[in-house]
This record gives sequence, structure tokens and C-alpha cells, in this order.
Amino acid sequence: MKDTVKNILNKQIQEEFYSFYLYIALAARLENMNLKGAANWMQVQAKEENDHALGFFRFLVDRNEEPKLLAISEPDLGSAKTIGEIFASGLAHEKHITALIGKIYEVAREEKDYALESFIKWYIDEQVEEEANATAVIEKIKLIGNDGSALYILDQELGARAYVPSGPYAAKA
Ligand SMILES: [Fe+2]
Ligand SMILES: [Fe+2]
Repeated sequence: MKDTVKNILNKQIQEEFYSFYLYIALAARLENMNLKGAANWMQVQAKEENDHALGFFRFLVDRNEEPKLLAISEPDLGSAKTIGEIFASGLAHEKHITALIGKIYEVAREEKDYALESFIKWYIDEQVEEEANATAVIEKIKLIGNDGSALYILDQELGARAYVPSGPYAAKA
């Protein structure tokens, strides 16, 4: 495997684990606002991010490369305080990840790494879904405004999100 490919994949493992870290940090903030359902949604998202990281790990291992596990930095929650701001910071992060996945696709093509080109397509599709999911919650939060009982119902809905294994290998299983 070419070094440019290896390096960008190691970097993406770090980015996906950072995503895990960010979502559990957002879950912690929601827990303390007593929005347990929204916190559950974030916890489920975090588990999916862990799967995404391990998907890149598996791809490297399967190609006889040893993944390099880079340091994960402290999550940057910025000034996100309300539930709307908290979900907006998740969406902003997903847009950042989408750009990185696109870059990996470009590198795969430039380096003529056809296995990577095929593998990364799962992530391209997944990012469409991740941005759509976060946007859907944000739209509901906007509709709710200051209606406490509507927020209570949304929190219950978010609490119903269940973890299903994610990542390119889970999808094939
Ligand atoms: Fe991810
Ligand atoms: Fe994500």
C-alpha cells in the first residue's frame, strides 16, 4: 500500500474515534440537561462511530498493514448549550467528516487503489445518511421552539433509537 493511502487511512481512524469522543461528550451535556433520550441518541451515534473507526482498521489489517493509532484530542463542544446548538455541532462535525471521506475517494483514484475506491463508497453513502439524520432532528427542534411538552415527546422519540452495528463489514454480514 502506498504511504499516501496508509497515512490518510490512519488519520481517518483517528477522526472516527474523535467522532466517538465528541458524541459521548455531547451525550454527557444532554444528560445533565435531563434530556436522557437525546443523550441516548448521541450514545448510539458514538457506537456507530466506533464501528466506522474499526472498519478502517479492518481494511488496513486485511491488506497486511498495521494501523497506527494516533492521539485523540479533547472534544471541542464550543459554546453549544441548547439542544438545538448541541445537534448543530454534531451536524457541523459530520460535514467535516464528509469532506474527509471525499478526500479519501480522491486519493484512491489518484493512486489507482481500486480496493480503496470500492471500500470508501460505503462511507460516502453513510455520510449522506448521517447528515440527513442530524438535519431531521434539528428541523424538529426548530418546530418545537419553546414548547416544553413537544420537547418532552421529541426526547422520548430520540430515546427509542437503538444501536445497530454499522460500518462496511457490518453491512456485508
Ligand atoms: Fe463516522
Ligand atoms: Fe458520523
